[in-house]
Amino acid sequence: MSDHRDRLRVAVQKSGRLAQDSLALLRRAGLAFRESRDRLFLYGENLPIDVLLVRDDDIPGLLQEGSCELGIVGRNVYAEQALAATGDAFPLESRALGFGHCRLALAVPDGGALASVADLAGLRIATSYPQLTARWLREQGIHAEVVLLNGSVEIAPRLGKADAICDLVSSGATLLANQLHELATVLRSEAVLVRAAQVPSAAVANQIERFCGRIDAGLSGHGARLLMLQAPRSALAAIERLLPAREQPSVLGLDGRPDDIALQALCDAQLDWQHLEELKRLGARALMVLNVERMLA
Ligand code: PRP
Ligand code: ZN
Repeated sequence: MSDHRDRLRVAVQKSGRLAQDSLALLRRAGLAFRESRDRLFLYGENLPIDVLLVRDDDIPGLLQEGSCELGIVGRNVYAEQALAATGDAFPLESRALGFGHCRLALAVPDGGALASVADLAGLRIATSYPQLTARWLREQGIHAEVVLLNGSVEIAPRLGKADAICDLVSSGATLLANQLHELATVLRSEAVLVRAAQVPSAAVANQIERFCGRIDAGLSGHGARLLMLQAPRSALAAIERLLPAREQPSVLGLDGRPDDIALQALCDAQLDWQHLEELKRLGARALMVLNVERMLA
């Protein structure tokens, strides 16, 4: 059991693909801290929540040992370590966060003889994700050798160290630059919020609930638009059919204009100019679209 502590600690990647978006998410959840690139610890100025800036691969372990209670990490890292975890109290994946999308994929040299997954039988596959790769191979019923490399996996085939690789792909630029192409997706990944199995105090448990509530509110509000308009009452049904609305719009009467309505609708980010033009064609006026900054259901 970890020592008593009353401030929640959240671990995020110090630098790398998730670092910036992770801090931005914490800010959207209302945390204020001074930013400084070289520090490992950001003291929360307005809430009893501090941030540890660490290597992504260290995050599940820090949660498991009780150094922090929440972490933002790629599912790729989390899932790999969860498969290797021994003992109990491994942290739990609690929410997908909607950024840092990438995939762990099996890739082979361009112009080679390997055309399908079955061709991998008996070959060597280089990866930094031995657990996920081995599990996937088992599921596919393929016997192949997994070669563990901690970096520069993409050059392994050229160096003769492996016949194929299993590595993260985001834009695909790395594969392209190394004359490799994908054969199969092993895991779809994005940033996830992971949560320690135990907490050091009731105060921290409280902070976790509050923080997670704010994250959820941020996730549901993210990309939402509030559309406001006035229209002839007769056009209401057609307008409602057209809108990418998240819920039933609010419809209000207008004083002294019984044939008109005012409408407010919470819409998805896909609400665009074309929607507005079609709404105008249906007779809507005074159209206004606002980005939703915060939402609490
Ligand atoms: C991954 C992977 C590739 C690159 C793929 O490394 O190992 O090198 O990203 O991205 P792309 O498809 O956009 O080119 P990452 O940046 O996560 O660094 P790491 O392996 O050192 O953690
Ligand atoms: Zn890493």
